[in-house]
Amino acid sequence: MKIVRSARALQALSARWRGRGETIGFVPTLGALHEGHRSLVRRARRENKRVVVSVFVNPTQFGPREDLARYPRPFRRDLALCRAAGVDAVFAPSAAGFYPPGFQTWVTVEELSQPLCGPFRPGHFRGVATVVLKLLNAAQPHRAYFGEKDFQQLRVVERLVRDLDVPVRVVPCPTVREQDGLALSSRNRYLTPAERRAAPHLRLALRTAAQVLRSRRNAPAAERAARAALARGGLRRIQYVSVVEPRTLRPWEGRGPARIAAAIYVGRTRLIDNRRA
Ligand code: PAJ
Repeated sequence: MKIVRSARALQALSARWRGRGETIGFVPTLGALHEGHRSLVRRARRENKRVVVSVFVNPTQFGPREDLARYPRPFRRDLALCRAAGVDAVFAPSAAGFYPPGFQTWVTVEELSQPLCGPFRPGHFRGVATVVLKLLNAAQPHRAYFGEKDFQQLRVVERLVRDLDVPVRVVPCPTVREQDGLALSSRNRYLTPAERRAAPHLRLALRTAAQVLRSRRNAPAAERAARAALARGGLRRIQYVSVVEPRTLRPWEGRGPARIAAAIYVGRTRLIDNRRA
């Protein structure tokens, strides 16, 4: 398994593989890899001749008061996991190398960045869209794998790929959960034992809301049901609970498929989740 530190070197590796007619699957991550990431890698492994994983804690998608400094960086463990999963190359640039001095070009996916997490994480999706385009330009994959766990991010990436003619197929992957329903996240490790016990109520609340939506076809009623269920679970710091159109992320208007998404704080830890409704 190769460890690649610069975009140029990864482009050269990718060109070599492409020259031999080999397909490339790409899984971008912030590292601190868990079973959710591993499911993406496994899928990429099945569908491509070569697999590239990026491990890069992207500073431009963290707000000034967010957890950039304390974000876990178990790099050697991540490498071991990638090696065991049959990954061909890990791309791990330094922040200074990947964002050279004078960097000033940004990708903004305008409308899809605005709802849901948008108001609570200003600049976040601009940082995500920009780094994802840079990573895709470095890896030049045939397919790129993204989790539905970060549903708004998935939509932002799909849109940017379409709008900017990026020659890659974006492959959405289902959310991997703990036995008790909590979606796997690198941030779960911040939870105290008591917080960890309360956290599955996020998933339960979304399930309750989906049931209400199915029976009453009423988004405010479903959102109220989710809030009540969260409160019953002791989770009262709610950023949003929203029923949205799954394609546009605009408020659901009573017809067709719906997605319900939420962001809450459990102690000092921000958790998100979503499901079909
Ligand atoms: P990160 O949070 O490390 O997630 C990397 C990929 O793994 C994302 O596509 C995410 O949706 C997926 N993922 C995380 N938890 C998952 C779970 N429980 N089940 C399924 N998939 C899961 O998302 C990012 O990094 C960054 O924003 C990135 C795209 C790498 C850009 O910096």
